[in-house]
Amino acid sequence: TIHIHTEKVKFPTAPEFYGLFFEDINHAADGGLYPEMIRNRAFEDSLLPEGCTTDPDQRIFVTEYGWPGAFNHGEGMDEWAAAVPDTEIPGWYAQDASFSLLTEGTLNPNRKAALRTTFAPGGKIYNIGYFGVPVKEGEEYHFYFFVQSDAAAGLTVALESEEGVSLGSSRLTLQKSGGYLRYDCDLTACGTDFKGRISISCDGACTVTLGFTSLMPKKTFKGHGLREDLAMALKNTHAKFIRFPGGCVVEGINEQNSLRFSRTIGPVWERPSAQLMWHYRTTNGLGFHEYLQLCEDLEMEAMYVCNCGMSCQARHGGGFSEETTREYLEEALHALEYALGSEDTPYGSLRAQYGRKEPFRLKYVEIGNENFGPEYNERYELFYHALKAAFPQVIYISNGHTEREKLPTDFADEHYYDAPEFFLENVDLFDDYDRSGPKIFLGEYAVNGGNTIASMECALAESAFLLGAEKNQDIVRLTAYAPLFQNSDYTAWKPNMIVFDNHQVYGIPSYHAVSLLGKYRGDEVVETETESEAKPPVYKGIPGIMCEKEGLLFKNARINGQPVEVSKCIYGEIEEAGDAWRMVFGNRKHHCTGKSREWNEAFEEFIGSGSFHENPVIWAVFGTDELEE
Ligand code: AHR
Repeated sequence: TIHIHTEKVKFPTAPEFYGLFFEDINHAADGGLYPEMIRNRAFEDSLLPEGCTTDPDQRIFVTEYGWPGAFNHGEGMDEWAAAVPDTEIPGWYAQDASFSLLTEGTLNPNRKAALRTTFAPGGKIYNIGYFGVPVKEGEEYHFYFFVQSDAAAGLTVALESEEGVSLGSSRLTLQKSGGYLRYDCDLTACGTDFKGRISISCDGACTVTLGFTSLMPKKTFKGHGLREDLAMALKNTHAKFIRFPGGCVVEGINEQNSLRFSRTIGPVWERPSAQLMWHYRTTNGLGFHEYLQLCEDLEMEAMYVCNCGMSCQARHGGGFSEETTREYLEEALHALEYALGSEDTPYGSLRAQYGRKEPFRLKYVEIGNENFGPEYNERYELFYHALKAAFPQVIYISNGHTEREKLPTDFADEHYYDAPEFFLENVDLFDDYDRSGPKIFLGEYAVNGGNTIASMECALAESAFLLGAEKNQDIVRLTAYAPLFQNSDYTAWKPNMIVFDNHQVYGIPSYHAVSLLGKYRGDEVVETETESEAKPPVYKGIPGIMCEKEGLLFKNARINGQPVEVSKCIYGEIEEAGDAWRMVFGNRKHHCTGKSREWNEAFEEFIGSGSFHENPVIWAVFGTDELEE
């Protein structure tokens, strides 16, 4: 029984309570919302990630920190293998033609490769896109490339079925040229094949150097270049803001590939590509300008996350040098000016040059992502004061909440990934938060871990938690499920709210839950009381494993001496919870009822109890103290 006291108004609702978190993970951008149909359009996908070496045996990228350029989340996913492309020039194939990758004589200084191609008479090269070029009858596409031709030549650009049958073509006549020239053509599909391809063939024998290629659908969301069905899926959530561009991708693997605003604006063929945290190279085609435009087109507020001079590994100690950190601060200042500055400012005028005279809306800026500890605090303050002085109208968000009282912050961003039980047990998490501290941004949450599949159970647990947050929306002002998108052909993390392939899209139960909650918003929060005979959920405890820590790689993991594969690593302390054990994270300690112990002592006892056998999820457990050391 729920008693609702409509006359007892506690506070108004938070107008932007439900939002979205966009990160280029699982090919959310390239091969997703950014509908480039040619994979590896600038031939750079096989280049070694910036600042990395390759370990040929493991086929993973090893960074200077001795950590792979990718996480391995969950089971049954082959992203480790996918970290090194399978073909020499990923996405591209030759038929009666041959090609070689050039790293000199490229289109411009930001292009690190070009494709030298020699065609036999009638020879062709083709690209299979992101698991097929999705060709749809009646649709129009635009193709262009920058090419340097050794002699005048006649080329045919064709949409083709998977078997190579033409589904529409266009002819281009190339001039002999010492430098690169741009050629454009439109293509109309006369058939459908979502596993199709795009080919370029030559009438006779010829040799050309391709500097950059692109194929895009002509119909895009509001004509601004993004995939319509995926943008509509966002629209239908009724969300009020978008946090972008990540997540871990903002931090990067190292300082060479942490996201920088300046690399994501301007003509796309001049934007450098970069290896992302999530195993593939981004074209940066979905850049700062495009994100702001998307927010406007969806009528959602923009929330930009800037790198604060720390990489993903650096969160565990050691940020970038002072000089590099200042470069990132400059980047953040320039980004804000690009969004908010008038045409008279240098970056405002650049925005105008790139097609947008009026400033964009940019309401929120988060300084760093999941960066914690003293090094973060120092950097946060540096950024906060400089940005606030230049753009006082923006609301600034800090990471985490353990230190939030110490930082000059408007909002603190908290992330929760856990089992359904955690969300059910923590519906009252925010009830006793200090109202004099900063507001809370529940920036990332989801039921996940181990083999979690998107289910009604997950959606219900998350919704219960969200309703607990709604009851406290005087302090919890913003929320976002994470991650947002998953190309079902490239999964690096699961579950994700919206799943798609190159022509279809659906929402998991959590998508429908937040869409419902986002659609039916009240104006005020009133007093309620509940009467229930239901018992609180039973928490089954978290099983664990012992393993050696080598840098940040977990190796030689064992349970009772037997080797096991680590599927998830978490950091925290263990506490007793009835006849089971519970993981307690620093910022949730106030919620625990049991007594905290030394993690290893507790863990050994836990292993000894044998109860970990009840749960197939395997966890690596480390104490927060050890982690800090
Ligand atoms: O949402 C996926 C990842 O989870 C994000 O990149 C990061 O912020 C968090 O660790």
